[in-house]
Amino acid sequence: MLKECRKHDYWDATYEDSMNLIASLPQVAAHIYRRTYHNGDIIAPNPEEDWSGNFAHMLGFEGIDFKSLMRLYLTIHADHEGGNASAHTVHLVGSTLSDAYNSFAAGMNSLAGPLHGLANQEVIKWVFEMIETLGTRTPSDDQIKKYVQDTLDAGKVIPGYGHAVLRQPDPRFVAQREFAREYIKDSEIVNIVWQLFDIVPPILQGLGKVKNPWPNVDAHSGAILVHYGLNEYSFYTVLFGVSRGLGVLAALCWSRALGFPLERPKSVTSEWLKTQLDK
Ligand SMILES: CC(C)(COP(=O)(O)OP(=O)(O)OC[C@H]1O[C@@H](n2cnc3c(N)ncnc32)[C@H](O)[C@@H]1OP(=O)(O)O)[C@@H](O)C(=O)NCCC(=O)NCCS
Repeated sequence: MLKECRKHDYWDATYEDSMNLIASLPQVAAHIYRRTYHNGDIIAPNPEEDWSGNFAHMLGFEGIDFKSLMRLYLTIHADHEGGNASAHTVHLVGSTLSDAYNSFAAGMNSLAGPLHGLANQEVIKWVFEMIETLGTRTPSDDQIKKYVQDTLDAGKVIPGYGHAVLRQPDPRFVAQREFAREYIKDSEIVNIVWQLFDIVPPILQGLGKVKNPWPNVDAHSGAILVHYGLNEYSFYTVLFGVSRGLGVLAALCWSRALGFPLERPKSVTSEWLKTQLDK
């Protein structure tokens, strides 16, 4: 259908596709979750609920606290500035006038990388491995310090820490910590996340190369989900993706409405490169 559109009418079809996609995402994601982890016991949507409440319901979580968590989660993961890999991928693919479905799918492939959205799974996996290795769910600060150092010595990054743009604790981390302080008492996993918040930044600062030693959005989310019983962490990036749909698809509508051009990195000639090297 888009092929037949005049360029300046694309926003209309993009808007319609985006609205349909945003409306469907929770149901598609919940279907995958129930099919993969709960014997295909699918839960029908409840039209009385809002977008996030309905998502929680279809996943199989009815508690008011979990629904508040989903509302927070789906809000803070939507997007923050458009330059991150998944948002930028949606923008890039959309700039070819590919439709909203193809553009969003491309962005999700980008979100799946461990330096990006997969980090929310990597964090909890790393914490569980720490618990297993140390043989305790209540490790001391010294035990955690050593585990962090061992991870770095193995040539790996500390998941959930660092950011390409932010230079302070991620406000989305702080929002989740506030939520946990208010709603969650005495969770050993949440306590480990809070210990890490004290322990990791000075270690990363000591490396002398990390531009932002502070936690990002992914450092906290897994511990809270585990607290509420959503333990299947290989699903966490799907949750992230549902939320990201809100931000990137809204941006896609604006890109078409404003007639943004096909995006392409600038190419340079060998001569230009030689001149730069000579300089
Ligand atoms: C998010 C991230 C990819 C940003 O990358 P970036 O913009 O290149 O970050 P920096 O400029 O600070 O990187 C400089 C160096 O510090 C390292 N560094 C950055 N964050 C690090 C971390 N959490 N643990 C260990 N080393 C880290 C980088 O790997 C790089 O090392 P190199 O020069 O040997 O390759 C990076 O911080 C990272 O890998 N974090 C862990 C994964 C994560 O949590 N991703 C989710 C992001 S929201």
